[in-house]
Amino acid sequence: MNDITILAPIYEGKAKVVFATPDPELLVLHFKDDATAFNRQKVGTIAGKGPINLRVAVRLMRELEAAGIATHVVRVLDERRLLVRKVAIIPLEIVVRNRTAGTFSKRYAVEEGIALAAPLVELFWKDDAHGDPLVNDAAAVLLGFATAAEVTAIQVLALRVNTVLRAFFAARGIELVDFKIEAGRAADGALLLADEISADSCRLWEIGTGRKLDKDRFRRDLGDIEATYAEVLARVEAVPA
Ligand SMILES: Nc1ncnc2c1ncn2[C@@H]1O[C@H](COP(=O)(O)OP(=O)(O)OP(=O)(O)O)[C@@H](O)[C@H]1O
Ligand SMILES: [Mg+2]
Repeated sequence: MNDITILAPIYEGKAKVVFATPDPELLVLHFKDDATAFNRQKVGTIAGKGPINLRVAVRLMRELEAAGIATHVVRVLDERRLLVRKVAIIPLEIVVRNRTAGTFSKRYAVEEGIALAAPLVELFWKDDAHGDPLVNDAAAVLLGFATAAEVTAIQVLALRVNTVLRAFFAARGIELVDFKIEAGRAADGALLLADEISADSCRLWEIGTGRKLDKDRFRRDLGDIEATYAEVLARVEAVPA
């Protein structure tokens, strides 16, 4: 099963390396331990993060698949490598927020942790060189990032992902405060959920205590980073009572 030939790297990002395979419709994602924050102003490593994030992402995407959401996951090759369907990534970072935090709090000068009356979907142009600026629907279409129908589909997808993952995490004692996803078009035109969903791309607060279980521990030097990532994996893989 693990006999897939891995060809040359085609892209090295902040958290993963992307490899081609002989099949033009398949890629291998290699999960690194590297961590960055604030658009690479802060860099470091979190020992063991790659294998943890791979398992977290696969478990969450399996949950989403079971709820009828199409993802790029094909199969796990080994602890750091995941076989995925290649997509043309839509250059939008799709964020869903259930509580105020992070850049939302900064941009609108509101304190963190205020529950939103309804989940909010935000779109950002996925472009590190320009600091991933916020875009509205019309700008995303005019700039050619996606069609109007795709922008609508992305927003529907994001809210469905939120509904499924909020319940999934809540059953494991974790509140899903916010998260970022990426989507792309497969060769057959299907819109697939791509990239990863992990403690790098979500805000996860322990229910009852508010303890941060995500990359904010790295961003804000809160300590216990490795142990917290391992705890998220254990909770995600646990079968709730
Ligand atoms: N199924 C897929 N097909 C094609 N590209 C993908 C797929 N899943 C994820 N990617 C892309 O692979 C790259 C993964 O690398 P990584 O997450 O380290 O990138 P990054 O440093 O966050 O940079 P950026 O996302 O801005 O390119 C990302 O560019 C992501 O958009
Ligand atoms: Mg990334």
